[in-house]
Parts: sequence; structure tokens; C-alpha cells
Amino acid sequence: MTAADPLSTALAELDALRDAGLSALELASTPERVEAARVEFLGQKNGRVKSAQERIKTLDPSARKAYGQRFNAVKGDLESAFEAARLRVERKTDDRGRIDVTLPGVRPRLGHRHPLTQTAEELIDLFGRIGFEVARGPEVEDVRHNFDALNIPPSHPARDPLDNFYLAVGERTSGEGPIGGDVPMLRSQTSTVQIRVMEAQKPPVRVIAIGRVYRPDTVDATHSFMFHQVEGLMVDRGVTMADLKSVLRLFARAYLGRDVTIRFRPSFFPFTEPSVEVDMLWHGGHRWVEMGGAGMVDPNVLRAVGYDPEEVTGFAFGLGIERLCMRRHAIDDIRLLYQNDVRFLRQF
Ligand code: DAH
Repeated sequence: MTAADPLSTALAELDALRDAGLSALELASTPERVEAARVEFLGQKNGRVKSAQERIKTLDPSARKAYGQRFNAVKGDLESAFEAARLRVERKTDDRGRIDVTLPGVRPRLGHRHPLTQTAEELIDLFGRIGFEVARGPEVEDVRHNFDALNIPPSHPARDPLDNFYLAVGERTSGEGPIGGDVPMLRSQTSTVQIRVMEAQKPPVRVIAIGRVYRPDTVDATHSFMFHQVEGLMVDRGVTMADLKSVLRLFARAYLGRDVTIRFRPSFFPFTEPSVEVDMLWHGGHRWVEMGGAGMVDPNVLRAVGYDPEEVTGFAFGLGIERLCMRRHAIDDIRLLYQNDVRFLRQF
């Protein structure tokens, strides 16, 4: 390698001078610091730009044109950077030191609702348009509403203490044997609200309930010990499975897009007969995604709340709010929804 010629060395130093000057001006955060950077780089007496200008005399005449051009560019850049820095740190005060309220302000960043809340609100709006009212129930439930009245017998595996958050089981009143009756628990499904609504009113019923449910699942990309469900219930004379499918299809297309198709797969839930899993397919894709369960309300459930299954029928469904929200926004990890990292939340 040959040693660099004096012109290349001089040009490289001009570039380094530009970089140093630009970062000094960028970092300067007060009028005093901007002024100090100006004196250091653009000062008339001993400024570094001034010294660089003088260097031209030391160069061979044939190199002066190239050096001069680069010098002018560097000086121009530093002068505009200085101007920009000066405006940036300028005190927003008038000549008597008062704040000048006519100057443009800094726009504050506005917050907005969490994507799950947005999803819930949209569901309330969409189902509201087809006549569904919002119902609520407690998150701390009792075993009767979470299981018994929903036709889930004491021996059912879903009632296992390892799969539920029972509270104060030590003080339960029902003695040994299966946990039952008035034992409090964190509800494991919003189907509890079906029972609460039907206990409180006579048919016809057309409600949705949105809320938190709790299950002791290990947290990973698709599971959490707390998540949200939307429950739907419609009971009236002559309600059929066709009504169920129409309502769910209407909803899926309104929330996720016109090209969404839904499909029912035969399944089993103690509180519905027949029961189905509800799958949805996007954008002509190949993978059906399970969104929840549904079915015709089991006559035993209607009887448990004092309705006459000979007179009325109903459908019910339960969908995962996180799933809907994650599908809609292409979010691939449920944990992101609970960490409340504003860099993530800002996107919605
Ligand atoms: N409660 C069920 C669950 O959490 C979901 C469900 C299935 C709700 C069928 C319903 C239904 O209303 O009809 O897994």
C-alpha cells in the first residue's frame, strides 16, 4: 500500500470535520451549547472551519480546486446545521423573557384504548346492530353458575381443581366429595352469564356478555391464566341452528372482512345440544382457525333457570376475544396484549 497523497488526506479530514461539527450541533440541547459549538467550528478567529480554510495554502496548486469545492460544501452543511440547531433550542420567549404563546407548540402524544378494549367495543357495536344487548356477570362466581346450572355434572373433568381457581374451598359448606354449590371461584367461562341473565328475565333473550375468564394455564404464546370471552345467547320461540349460523357469519364478516368464511364442526359441550366448534377461514387461506364453541341451548339448562324447553329454544356461543383481536391485527403472541409496552400498543 502506498501512503495516501496529501489531497486525499486533506479531503478525509474535511469529512471528519463535518461529522464532528454535525454531531456536536445535534447533541447541543441549550442555546449556550449551540453557541459553544458554533464558536468551536464556525468561529471567525480560531474556529476549526477557519483553520481548514487556511490549509488550502499548504496544498499543491493543482489540488486546490478539489479541496476548495469540498471545503465550501462542508462549511455550507455546518452553517445550515447550526441554523437548524439554533431554531431547535431557541427559547420560546419574547424580549422581556415571557413565554410567547403565539409560537407553535409541541403536539402532545395522545393515548388511546387498548386493542382488546377496542375489540370489545367493536363487538358491542356490531352485535348491538342486530339487536343484542350487553349483559354482565361477576368474575368471582359460584360453582352453581359456572358448572351445575350449565349441565356440567360434579364428575366432569372440567371441574378438576387443577383446572380451576377455586376460592376458599377450605370453608365450603357442602362437605366432602365433589366441589359444588356455593363454593366461590374465578369464573372459567362467560357461559355463567347465560344463567344469570335467564334467572333474571323471561324470554325472549338476546344478549352478549364480554369479560375476563380464568384458568390455571401455563403462559405461552397462545395461553394465559386470564383471557377474555364474548358470550352470546338468544332464546325465543322457534330459534334454530340456522339463526346461530347467520348471526355468527354476519359477525365474522363485519369484524374480520367480507371474504371470511365460517364453518361448524360437530363437538360436545354439556350446555348445548347439538354442539359445534366454530372455525373461520381468511382470504382464501388454507388454514381454518378455531374461534370458539357454540350450539343449541341444552333443555336441561333451560329447565335449570325455569324456562320451558317445550316452548322456547335458544342458541349460545362463546368466542375468544384475544383470538379475534390477534387475527384482526396479525399479532402472534398473546403476551404482547398484557405487557403494556407502549411501543407495541401505539400501533393500534
Ligand atoms: N364456554 C365454552 C368454553 O369456554 C365456550 C362455549 C361453547 C360457549 C359453546 C357457548 C357454547 O356458549 O354454546 O370453552
